Amino acid sequence: MPLVPMRILLDHAAENGYGVVALNVNNMEQIQSIMMAARETDSPVIIQASRGARKYSNDAYLRNLILAAAELNPDLPIAMHLDHGNALDTCLSAIDQKFTSVMMDGSLSEDGKVPSTYEYNAEITRKVVDAAHAVGVSVEGEIGALGGIEDGHGAGLSQEEAMEHLTDPDQAEQFVADTGVDALAVAIGTSHGAYKFTHKPTGDVLKMDLIEEIHRRLPNTHLVMHGSSSVPQELQDIINQFGGDIKQTFGVPVEEIQRGIKSGVRKINVDTDNRLAITGAIRKVFMESPGKFDPRDYLVPAREAMAQVCKARMIAFGQAGYAGKIKVKTCKEMVDFYTK
Ligand code: G3H
Ligand code: 13P
Ligand code: ZN
Repeated sequence: MPLVPMRILLDHAAENGYGVVALNVNNMEQIQSIMMAARETDSPVIIQASRGARKYSNDAYLRNLILAAAELNPDLPIAMHLDHGNALDTCLSAIDQKFTSVMMDGSLSEDGKVPSTYEYNAEITRKVVDAAHAVGVSVEGEIGALGGIEDGHGAGLSQEEAMEHLTDPDQAEQFVADTGVDALAVAIGTSHGAYKFTHKPTGDVLKMDLIEEIHRRLPNTHLVMHGSSSVPQELQDIINQFGGDIKQTFGVPVEEIQRGIKSGVRKINVDTDNRLAITGAIRKVFMESPGKFDPRDYLVPAREAMAQVCKARMIAFGQAGYAGKIKVKTCKEMVDFYTK
């Protein structure tokens, strides 16, 4: 089937009370891992690429690799999503490249670093929504700013600073009304990358109650949790056991995400857990078999390790078993939905 708009997947998830993991990719093996997991669990798929991923891989590779995934898995609906678009042009070029969904992250200025104003965010996001909906492409916006930094993207806020940029529920309501986004990313104390929390997070640093409040006010808006890797201890241990240096850290517990799913969270972004799984698997081969030099010797276990993480999240978030039950629409068919 053709790539589907993300809105279709999130609407179905809302109707049936589950969440969908959105997985970042940069190369063929990561796409294959996701599809292995989705096939095994009959899961709908959100594959997302950041600006960094587009630069690393090139849109033509990304698009054709994701189209190959669709061709080989005709029964699984796949949305191709731009993660953290920083400007109108970035979103428009993604739409040109056949992304079926884009994120306009106007919570930060165009440099992707400095937290922006509400007015800037609402205005730029509205422009993206107008352009995207005209061709049936879905849009995710963000209100409030996350902590952490990844390859130049992100405000680089410390955990304490990030707490000052949590989503304000009044602004969230206003933002949805002002922009018409399909999905809303909220800042509730999570951050990108491996170093999220110094202890298993409690309610004072991971504000799940804020999600519940936003959902009360916006029951029909699909909420998105970024920075939602769980950073499992066993993945940290494997890396360290085989010569790596990951300092003790804590992620977002899966059970907290499951609590969020009960309160309107429909899209959960996970990248770091897969990076950890891949790195651990490759380090293991390098340490145990230093004579090996065929990339397949370490990329096959790396792909398998990422597939295991993806599968576990698909099951935990409840999307497993739903791929075949979704009545899909193309972007073209979504144009009518938005003009009504
Ligand atoms: O937003 C963060 C994602 O993990 C993507 O990271 O910008 O390093 O590709 P990246
Ligand atoms: P993690 O770094 O927690 O995997 O978050 C990824 C993310 O939010 C991508 O947008
Ligand atoms: Zn993110």
